[in-house]
Amino acid sequence: MIILVTGGAGYIGSHAVLALQKLGHEVIILDNLVYGHQDLVTEVLKTKLVIGDTNDSILLKQIFNQHKIDAVMHFAAYAYVGESVTQPAKYYRNNVVGTLTLLEEMLAAGVDKFIFSSTCATYGVPEKVPIVEDQPQNPINPYGTSKLMVEKILQDFSAAYNFRSVCLRYFNAAGADPDGLLGEDHDPETHLIPLVLQTALGDRESISIFGTDYDTPDGSCIRDYIHVADLAQAHVLALEYLEKNGATDMFNLGNGHGFSVKEVIATARKITGREIKAVECDRRPGDPPILVGSGAKARKILGWQSQYSRLEDILTHAWRWHQKRHQ
Ligand SMILES: NC(=O)c1ccc[n+]([C@@H]2O[C@H](COP(=O)([O-])OP(=O)(O)OC[C@H]3O[C@@H](n4cnc5c(N)ncnc54)[C@H](O)[C@@H]3O)[C@@H](O)[C@H]2O)c1
Repeated sequence: MIILVTGGAGYIGSHAVLALQKLGHEVIILDNLVYGHQDLVTEVLKTKLVIGDTNDSILLKQIFNQHKIDAVMHFAAYAYVGESVTQPAKYYRNNVVGTLTLLEEMLAAGVDKFIFSSTCATYGVPEKVPIVEDQPQNPINPYGTSKLMVEKILQDFSAAYNFRSVCLRYFNAAGADPDGLLGEDHDPETHLIPLVLQTALGDRESISIFGTDYDTPDGSCIRDYIHVADLAQAHVLALEYLEKNGATDMFNLGNGHGFSVKEVIATARKITGREIKAVECDRRPGDPPILVGSGAKARKILGWQSQYSRLEDILTHAWRWHQKRHQ
């Protein structure tokens, strides 16, 4: 099959491209490189890269005219929660309007299968954990709202047109390709595990623990870290599901259990053998104490099994990548 992967030069998208290539699929990446890494596409993935934007309908027409695309995996988005609060227009333009533009060009070209990177941020502060798919979605920031808007658009598209989609709601993406080819390289970085490892490498003075008085066993926040290779595998399975005429649906990608900030730091000290200075700070507004997602529906319907749910594996792979990227 020929798959168009938007945002394929980014963290999760690049791992999905690798997984697709291993199965013999042809991949075309569309990425504006605002955050993506061209070197990883040219040196590791070695696939066609179209440098451009999902808001560019003329470019999209060209891509769909030139290639017989079977399905689209859509990773391209802005994903900085704090920035989305201060610059909501930027997020609605890129994440909602950009997606709608892409969807309209897919319709025009007769491409009817779509896999969307959604997020646990669509749930907001959950009523109960582990979160299941039919729990209320009440996002608490424009980033989460932008993703929920796209989920709604996709439901309406399925009702109105010959169009099917899978929304994958990731919990906290983490880790790196187990073979060390790819990994996480966000700039600016806001995710806990890379920040901890950058501290281990000496690129940062210390790591902040925001809140130590939560109602959790050690007082720090608990998150469900999901290995990026497991996320990539879920995309492959979602593609197979749509190929077999599976109906439009949405799935949580979580392990059903989490690790606290303090556990992550302690395990990182063990794996890196470095000190990693931690500083205890006040809570940040809007951080739920526990965010954990049930992957039961994805296991049942897609046949998804996470291979790397151990924190040690996630950190070992991420550490290998960070050391290599740091050289
Ligand atoms: N990282 C996480 O923990 C996480 C969790 C839940 C959901 N997600 C979602 O997964 C997707 C991928 O996240 P990531 O961590 O790999 O981010 P990333 O920033 O590494 O990758 C996104 C890529 O999309 C590109 N891009 C952005 N807007 C574009 C546009 N309009 N046109 C073309 N390219 C564009 C960027 O240059 C980048 O390469 C995003 O949609 C994000 O919202 C991520």
